[in-house]
Amino acid sequence: MKQAKKITASTLRQMKASGERITMITAYDATMARLVDRAGADVILVGDSLGMVFQGEQNTLGVTLDDVVYHTRAVVRGASRAHVVADLPFMSYQADPTEGFRSAGRLIKDGGAHSVKLEGGEVYAPLVERLVGAGIPVMGHLGLTPQSVHAMGGFKVQGKDAKAAERILRDAKALEAAGAYAIVLEGVPVELSRVVTAQLEIPTIGIGAGIDCDGQVLVCYDLLGMFDEFTPKFVKQYANIGAAIVAAVSEYKREVVEGAFPAEAHTFHSKEQLFRGPREVVRPAPQEIDDEDGVGGLYGVPV
Ligand code: KIV
Repeated sequence: MKQAKKITASTLRQMKASGERITMITAYDATMARLVDRAGADVILVGDSLGMVFQGEQNTLGVTLDDVVYHTRAVVRGASRAHVVADLPFMSYQADPTEGFRSAGRLIKDGGAHSVKLEGGEVYAPLVERLVGAGIPVMGHLGLTPQSVHAMGGFKVQGKDAKAAERILRDAKALEAAGAYAIVLEGVPVELSRVVTAQLEIPTIGIGAGIDCDGQVLVCYDLLGMFDEFTPKFVKQYANIGAAIVAAVSEYKREVVEGAFPAEAHTFHSKEQLFRGPREVVRPAPQEIDDEDGVGGLYGVPV
């Protein structure tokens, strides 16, 4: 079968140039990555949102570089076509540009990410330039930047007045000039994202930023209806997988409790009588079992 062409940072720039919209989604494990890749997602983000939807924290601040490396390794194994971008977590780059440089290097070298994403504008332009110079593509992230939740006073829409909007536009241009290949615009008015998108040559990827961005990103558990702690206004649920999981597990529990699972179809039998004497519960084997039915063949993979 012909392998689909891998998406790279430059593919995404070409997509903007040709007016093709970019689809990005988060994933934190290989199975989800495989599924969203199969569905045609162009970019998979190993976001530090994993702190909230995977680790159950109130915000993203506690996520460590090791956490992101671990999840990125899993996602990269599952993705075959999509570009995998990994988040630089809080305090892995803010304190010192050299530390930021090393952190990004770990996401690429140990995690296998294809690029890194960082939150913040002009002040990080020198770091972006240095990373790009070292061959590490960088995605920016402006607007509602969750790592600044305390500075913002909560998860609030940003850039609503002219001064704040001007600042975000300036930051976007600074990131582009430093060599960023794309910018996530989160939680900003459509009137602002429209202008930023029009004034940049690199693509903007919106989340809660309206329809005029060059692409969109959502957290996988949000769009699949699996995360129900809260649902931001910008989320559209395309399925209710959470309800499907609860229904399936309830059915499983019922069958376990009633003794209906496992059925004969899920059961293995010995080749011969295993015990002599009163311990043996003798029952005839219902079918011939061949050698391949050993434990080694259980998951369909050689051991
Ligand atoms: O961490 C994340 O998932 C993100 C997206 C919300 C853009 O940064």
